Amino acid sequence: MSAAAEPIILLGPPGAGKGTQARRLEEHYGLVQLSTGDVLRAAVKAGTSLGREAKTYMDAGKLVPDDLIIRLIEEWMQKSEAKKGFILDGFPRTVPQAKALDAMLQKRSMKLKAVVEMKVDDKALIERVSGRFSCAKCGEGFHDSFKPLKKTGECDKCHSKEFVRRPDDNAETMKTRLEAYHVQTAPIIPYYRDQGILVQVDGMGEMDAVYAEIKSVLKLA
Ligand code: AP5
Repeated sequence: MSAAAEPIILLGPPGAGKGTQARRLEEHYGLVQLSTGDVLRAAVKAGTSLGREAKTYMDAGKLVPDDLIIRLIEEWMQKSEAKKGFILDGFPRTVPQAKALDAMLQKRSMKLKAVVEMKVDDKALIERVSGRFSCAKCGEGFHDSFKPLKKTGECDKCHSKEFVRRPDDNAETMKTRLEAYHVQTAPIIPYYRDQGILVQVDGMGEMDAVYAEIKSVLKLA
């Protein structure tokens, strides 16, 4: 494994392919993926107080308040898996979150390897989220057109026959999610550019091409 233990951020609008690419990096390089969206959805499913508080925002396509998210990341950082190289997928999403992350890393004498911005047109994003579904058992992600099941009705990975679609993957909520990205998240792009760690990839290509570009900008063998 040639990846250094420095954390990587995958940044991009909803449906850009952050989760898809983070899972590949996790499998091939042993990096740990932390998706705030996945953690929040698990909390909603488990009915925890975090989940109950986050649900209203998520269902509406709005960002969950910074203090909740920062607390969630701080707790995760105490865990041993956070000491290995990790990929942040969906965090930070606001400048206050980015600043809080800097402080957390500094406290641990860690620094970011890179922030990978995945650029995808809004029209393609809507197409991607509206066809997305995942295996209810192992979480493997699929798409009606771009990554269909190899065998009808059966997960390629664990052979389960149950699948789920996200309640926020609809045209109306997607409008709010995109707006949140452009208004609240996009300001972190210049924040990281000024630190000299921002790299951009064309997220419009096919999944393999995007993955190859990410490996190249991150200088992963
Ligand atoms: P989150 O779960 O992070 O959702 P998101 O950012 O909207 O991103 P997605 O998971 O929708 O997309 P993705 O980029 O991972 O795309 P994917 O790889 O699945 O957040 C959900 C909610 O939680 C937020 O709205 C907010 O409320 C809350 N939240 C989370 N983090 C927060 C934070 N830090 N602060 C505040 N609130 C927070 O790909 C999409 C589809 O396209 C898939 O079907 C895939 O198969 C397909 N696909 C992928 N790549 C390609 C390609 N290259 N070509 C064709 N199809 C592709």
